[in-house]
Amino acid sequence: MNKDYFSQDTHKYMYCSDGIFSEFIYSLITKTFADDFKKYSQVYEIGAGMGRFSFALLNHFHKVCLIEPSESYVAVLNQLFDKEQVTIMNTSMEEFFKNTSIPPKSLFFNFHLLHHLTLEQRKEFFNYLRIGTSSGSIS
Ligand SMILES: C[S@@+](CC[C@H](N)C(=O)[O-])C[C@H]1O[C@@H](n2cnc3c(N)ncnc32)[C@H](O)[C@@H]1O
Repeated sequence: MNKDYFSQDTHKYMYCSDGIFSEFIYSLITKTFADDFKKYSQVYEIGAGMGRFSFALLNHFHKVCLIEPSESYVAVLNQLFDKEQVTIMNTSMEEFFKNTSIPPKSLFFNFHLLHHLTLEQRKEFFNYLRIGTSSGSIS
């Protein structure tokens, strides 16, 4: 991936730190997907950026892991979120899936990520979800 493309100063529109937008989007997700979200004990957000959609995940799930390859975005995530509640991983989804065993009852979110991935990366993403877990993914 082109790490320089994603840097804090060139994508300020992705910085939205009041959490209100995040809650609104999450409410639409729970209305749209007929699923019991309470059954998931671990939630991952792949490509969390500057956390614009992460707030609601932290409000609704006990264990949240934010995965983000850009160092400058990770610096923002570290400022925004309490490390007691959230794990922040400075890595790409490819490295994450290679190096992490996914616990059962995991759920994956990704907001505005897939269209940045190549077809091969997308296949890899869905393949890892399919073979690595029996969980769902919401994008
Ligand atoms: C358009 S931004 C969206 C950020 C955030 N989800 C939002 O909506 O505000 C796409 C994000 O995906 C991350 N990303 C790009 N390639 C990735 C990869 N291979 N694995 C994980 N994240 C990736 C970028 O660093 C960036 O933060």
